[in-house]
Amino acid sequence: MFTIITGAQFGDEGKGKIVDLMSGEYDVVVRFQGGDNAGHTVKVGEDVYKLHLIPSGFLLDSRVLIGPGTVMNPEVLAREMDMLAEGGIELGPGKLGVDAKTSIIMPYHIELDGLRESLRTEKIGTTKRGIGFAYIDKVARDEVRMSDIVDRDKFLQRLAELAPQKEVAIKELGGDPSMVMDKNLIDKYLKLGERFAPYITDVSYEVNKALDEGKNVLAEGAQGTHLDVIHGTQKFVTSSSTVAGSACANIGVGPTRVDSVLGIVKAYITRVGEGPLPTELIDEVGQQIQQVGREFGTTTGRSRRCGWFDLPLLKKAIYLNGYTSIALTKLDVLSDIDPIRVCVSYELGGRTVAYPPEDTSELAGCKPVYEDLAGWQSDLTGVKEFNDLPQAAKDYVLYLENKMGVPIEYISVGPAREQTFKK
Ligand code: GDP
Ligand code: IMO
Ligand code: MG
Repeated sequence: MFTIITGAQFGDEGKGKIVDLMSGEYDVVVRFQGGDNAGHTVKVGEDVYKLHLIPSGFLLDSRVLIGPGTVMNPEVLAREMDMLAEGGIELGPGKLGVDAKTSIIMPYHIELDGLRESLRTEKIGTTKRGIGFAYIDKVARDEVRMSDIVDRDKFLQRLAELAPQKEVAIKELGGDPSMVMDKNLIDKYLKLGERFAPYITDVSYEVNKALDEGKNVLAEGAQGTHLDVIHGTQKFVTSSSTVAGSACANIGVGPTRVDSVLGIVKAYITRVGEGPLPTELIDEVGQQIQQVGREFGTTTGRSRRCGWFDLPLLKKAIYLNGYTSIALTKLDVLSDIDPIRVCVSYELGGRTVAYPPEDTSELAGCKPVYEDLAGWQSDLTGVKEFNDLPQAAKDYVLYLENKMGVPIEYISVGPAREQTFKK
């Protein structure tokens, strides 16, 4: 069985939590795009893991893979592995694999990301992890690959070839070009290369072989649908394709092998960084959602902007991903809010539209049209099954399911693994 999971909104929908939960049924969990701009939180008992690169299926028995479509900062990977090892979780080469073709995020990518963002008159609000610049190099065929850093001579040769253009680029943006060939940084990468040599694998081969053997594979998306580099709210997007189809192309597995596509959907909406968010709440309700939902970025610590559930954007996410089912997360956060509003369409230039306009600048001008639903006043965090939800919460879930036209499979009412049930 091959399942793809993606975020249906602007990221931070709770993908990490659901992947952890589901990984019990999967032999392989594989990250297929993005890098350490992602921040995925997994909570089990009192233990909270905040990870950026290691797939969220690491706690159970699955093998976890970092696919060739990702951009990988080896320093971050090493830090995460060390942090887990301190807690007694060793990720050896039998547990974790990194594709030989994975693009490496180099220190100059991070430098360039910061310089470019600081010079932008209209900011994107990137995570400054060098993601965009690593992808530029992948497409320009100037990347450093995983297979390069594990081979000292190859790495040094590649760096010598690339350094002149990177130095020019940094200088042009007003930075210090000497960092490109900084001896300490190079030594650090060489050491990391040595450490990761045993982890190199061919992810496409592993995944296809596992499927041939009747095993279960879960593809874990990062970011969210509307941050997709092609279909998202350009230019306020990330630099990779975040939609479900991207899993096939990036892992190297045919679309005919996909069995199910699960969309992770927050019971409201959040966004970190710049860009349009038609239902954004800049009032006390927005503050309440932010406080109760602890809506602060896992990667940058920035406050996440919060808003009401946006059906037009969700409808687009369903088209872009072809979801077969949905996991609805953070329902508990909406307790004590009355009424709960759902955006069903937008007013745009005198028209009412039920689907987002194709142009981002037009989305920014959309005025939401709401339907109001009754709220509930009780705490949901201890609820264990659908029938035990208060009637108003059940009505909210059923209303969304009906409007989305896709079955809600899971409901999440708290950050912990146990705070999830099947609908
Ligand atoms: P991801 O990037 O999609 O993996 O999501 P993040 O981990 O960045 O953000 C989701 C946050 O919400 C994390 O802190 C989770 O622990 C937390 N979370 C996940 N599901 C729920 C839920 O149902 N209720 C509450 N209150 N918190 C949740
Ligand atoms: P997870 O996987 C939310 C946002 C950044 C910025 C834009 C571009 O945790 O859901 P980038 O550094 O990727 O070039 O920044 O994308 N962004 C995210 N927002 N969750 C994420 O990941 C994100 N990864 C990137 O805030 O607006
Ligand atoms: Mg996150």
